[in-house]
Amino acid sequence: MSRAQVRALRSIDLGFSDLDNALRFFTEVWNLTPAGESGGVHYLRATSAFHHILTLRHMAQPALLRMVFDTADADTVDALHAQVLAHGLKTIDPPGRLRQPHGDYGFGFKDPEGRNIAIVCGVKDHADAADRPDRPRKLSHINVNAGDSEATFACYRDALGFTLTDTTRRLRFLSCNADHHSVVLGFTGGDTLNHIAFEMPDLESVMRGAGRMRDDRRAIEWGPGRHGPGNNVFCYFLGPQDMPVELTAEMQQIDVTDRARTPEQWTWPPGRLDYWGISAAPSARMDAAGLRYKFTGDGWRLDEWR
Ligand SMILES: [Fe+2]
Repeated sequence: MSRAQVRALRSIDLGFSDLDNALRFFTEVWNLTPAGESGGVHYLRATSAFHHILTLRHMAQPALLRMVFDTADADTVDALHAQVLAHGLKTIDPPGRLRQPHGDYGFGFKDPEGRNIAIVCGVKDHADAADRPDRPRKLSHINVNAGDSEATFACYRDALGFTLTDTTRRLRFLSCNADHHSVVLGFTGGDTLNHIAFEMPDLESVMRGAGRMRDDRRAIEWGPGRHGPGNNVFCYFLGPQDMPVELTAEMQQIDVTDRARTPEQWTWPPGRLDYWGISAAPSARMDAAGLRYKFTGDGWRLDEWR
């Protein structure tokens, strides 16, 4: 029997100690759009149909709170829940009814390194989903560092149905739909953040986004460039409270016949880290900034959604 699969990285829940500045950044500079507020939680949408792609709330320390993956229907939620249990993981919240805008039905668990994950279906999304220039379309991917990369990879493959699309010396690229990757796992760095990537409609919008970041007195930490795995264009920055964020576009679309390549097949000539070769290497301060972001331990149940 084939494995049940999640079908998209829908949204990420974030906490900031300087919530006002984070809201200003993600709306005025990053060009997301407010989609409601409830109980101190602010919902921000992109141009795709997803009701929201980020939630922001006040936290004493800036933190990653939860990744939310979308599924087709309640049967798939139940099948994924069974796979999570079969993988030896505990459910934090058993499958149950949710309150919009979080969906009709879902469950929550922690991956082997304690990252909070929610699996949902039936979210009442927006009717309008047309691209708009200079505005993010959706989350592209989250790249997390790992302490036990093998255990984390096995969970995303076996419990959530991800497919390995490429491996480099530092990273594994995992896909759950036509996009080359929606989750990227590092081999080192513990339970911390590498970066969160937002998909722009085109290269022009990535470059204009980079200009808005410079207007906001934020340097380009890496880029512009074009990645090897995924073939997507990129620019990296430090967002609010030094959260590493990426603007990207032109992600490679894959099909099941595409073969995952190996670290030996992903080598660059000396001095090169991407196809274009016009940017210096990633800044050390960006890597250091991500190491300060962790998924919070407990308390991120789905109770607030029921
Ligand atoms: Fe990325």
